[in-house]
Amino acid sequence: MCGIVGYIGKRKAYPILIKGLHRLEYRGYDSAGVALINPAGQLNIYKAKGKVAELEAYAADKDIEGCIGIAHTRWATHGEPNTVNAHPHYSESERLAIIHNGIIENYAVLKAGLMEQGYTFKSDTDTEVLVQLIEYTQVDRHVDLKTAVQLALQQVIGAYAIAVLDKDNPDTLVAARKGSPLVVGIGDDEYFLASDATPIVEYTDKVIYIEDEEVVVLKSEGVKELKSEGVEITTINNVTKTPEIKRLELSLSQLEKGGYPHFMLKEIFEQPRTLTDSMRGRVNVRQDNIALSGFIDNKDRFLNAKRIIITACGTSWHAGLIAMYAIEEFAQIPVEVEYSSEFRYRKPVINKDDVVIAISQSGETADTLAAIQLAKEKGAFIFSICNVVGASIPRVSDSGCYTHVGPEIGVASTKAFTAQVVALTMLALCIGKEKGTMSKEQYLRIVRELGQIPDKIERVLGQNKRIADFAKTFTYAQNFIYLGRGYNFPVAMEGALKLKEISYIHAEGYPAAEMKHGPIALISQEMPVVVVAPHCGTYEKVVSNIQEIKARKGRVIAVVTEGDELVSRIADYTIEIPATEECLTPLLTVIPLQLLAYHIAVVKGCDVDQPRNLAKSVTVE
Ligand code: AGP
Repeated sequence: MCGIVGYIGKRKAYPILIKGLHRLEYRGYDSAGVALINPAGQLNIYKAKGKVAELEAYAADKDIEGCIGIAHTRWATHGEPNTVNAHPHYSESERLAIIHNGIIENYAVLKAGLMEQGYTFKSDTDTEVLVQLIEYTQVDRHVDLKTAVQLALQQVIGAYAIAVLDKDNPDTLVAARKGSPLVVGIGDDEYFLASDATPIVEYTDKVIYIEDEEVVVLKSEGVKELKSEGVEITTINNVTKTPEIKRLELSLSQLEKGGYPHFMLKEIFEQPRTLTDSMRGRVNVRQDNIALSGFIDNKDRFLNAKRIIITACGTSWHAGLIAMYAIEEFAQIPVEVEYSSEFRYRKPVINKDDVVIAISQSGETADTLAAIQLAKEKGAFIFSICNVVGASIPRVSDSGCYTHVGPEIGVASTKAFTAQVVALTMLALCIGKEKGTMSKEQYLRIVRELGQIPDKIERVLGQNKRIADFAKTFTYAQNFIYLGRGYNFPVAMEGALKLKEISYIHAEGYPAAEMKHGPIALISQEMPVVVVAPHCGTYEKVVSNIQEIKARKGRVIAVVTEGDELVSRIADYTIEIPATEECLTPLLTVIPLQLLAYHIAVVKGCDVDQPRNLAKSVTVE
C-alpha cells in the first residue's frame, strides 16, 4: 500500500529518490518523506503531509546532498496521515532512519517492551517501533546493522518491506521484506531498491526480486559486476543466499502518459492493443486454437477438478464472476467466486482436487496472497492470473497466466480487467474443448470472435466524445444503480465500482431482475440507472426491467448492441457496442462504463489517477 525507494552509489540520491516516489505515488499518497546521509555524515529526514509535490516544495531549501538515501510515499495504516506519522522515522538516538511498507501486527507488544527500556515514541506508527527495536538490538547485542535487522525481524509478526540507514555506516543500506514487495536494481557502481520496478527501469534492466524473510545489504563500494561486496543477501536467520539477477521486461515509455490527460484514459484507450498483446501466442485464429501454457502443463489438474474456487478482490473479483459463467457454461465444472478477505477467514472447505484461481493485477494484494497460502496448505492447485511479472502471487502459485498489459498506473483498473476476462475466457475454452463439454463449432466460433474483439473495442472507443458530452448531465447525481443480467451482471458491478472509486458518487451494481426485490423503491429522476442490455439470452427480460424503471420516471443510460431499436426508443441515452458472442460481451459493454465513470469524475474535478483514500495495490489486510 505504500511505496518505498532507496539509492546508494555514485550519483546524488535526492533526484533519484523523488522521481522514484512519483513513479510509486499510485501506491499511496497520504504523505511522503526522504532520509539522506550527507557528505558530512549527517542523517537528515524531510517529510510532508500530502503528495510527493508537497515534499518537494518543503525540501526545496533543505540540505538534500548525499549519495545514499531512502524515500517513502504513504497510504496510512497505523496513525493518521500527518507529518509526524510520515516516513522515514528516526530511531531514538537519530542514528538510524527507516521506511516501511506493510503492517507490524505485534507492534504493541514490542512497543511496550521498548518503553520498559526507556524508549520514547513520537508517532503512532508501527514503523517507529521497528526502528527502535533495531537500534535497541544493535546497542544491547553489540551487533552491526545487518545483524540487528535480522534479529529484530525474527521478533516481528506481520508484513514488511523496509530500508534502513545508519549514519555511522554511510556506505551501507540494509533492506528486507516479508509479504510486501521489494526489488533491487543493479547499476554500474550504484544500487536501487523499490517496491516495484517502475522507479528502477530508467537506470537499469538488471533486477533482483527479494524473497520473503530475506535481508539485502547494499554497499556503495560495490563493483561493476555483481559481487558479494556490492550486494549481499541472507535470510533473517543469516543463511546466505545467492542473488538471482533477472532482466526487466518493462520500458520507460510504458510509464509515461503518452499525451493523455490521465493514465486512466490512456489505459482505457490502450485496450485494443493490450488485448492483442494478451492474446498473442495464445489465441491462434488461423489454426482455430488457443494455447495456454499454464493449462497445457497442468491439464489433468483442471480436467479432474471437482470444483474451481476463484479468489480475488475488487475489480479482479468481478472478472472472477464473469469467469464463473464461462467455466460453468463451457467446462461444466462447479465454480465458487470468493472475496479473498472473506475466504481466508471463514474456515472454508478446501479439497486436494480443488483448483484455486487467484486473480490479481498487482500480484501483491494481501488478502488474495493469504487466501492462496490457505488453499496451498490444504493441497489445492493454485493457478494465478496476474499482470506483474515476478510479483508475490505468481511466485507462490503452482502455475498461472500473465496478462501482459504493461504497468497499470491508474488506481482504477481498466486494461487489466479486460485482460483478466480474456485470460479466464481462454482458460474456460481450453478446459471445455479438452473435456468435450462444448461443441467444436461453438469453440471455433468463439476463438474466431476473440480475434475480432480488439477492433470492436476500437469502435466503442470511437464514442468517447459522445459519452463525455452526456456525462456532464450526471455530475449532479448522488447515487447511481447499474443493472445487468448473466455475463453482464458482473459488468454492472464493475461499472458501479469504477464510478464510486474515481467520482466519489455512490453506485451499486445489481442483477437486473433483483430490481423488484427492493432497489426499485429507489427509482427517481435524481438517480440515474445504467442498464447493460446487449442482444443476448436475457435481452427481452432486461427490456422489461427498463420499462419498469421508465414507468417510475427513472432516467436510463443503456448499453445496447448496434442497430438496437427497441431499447433506443425507451432509454434516455444509449451507447452502442458491436454484436459479439454473449460470453465476450463484457469485453465491449465495460468500455462505455469505464469512459462514463472517467468523464463524470473529470467534470467533477476529481483526482482520477489517484482517488482519495485509495491505493493501487492493497498490500495490507
Ligand atoms: C479496481 O479499480 C480497484 N483499484 C481495486 O478494486 C482492485 O481491483 C483491487 O484492489 C484488487 O487489486 P489486484 O487486482 O491488484 O489484486
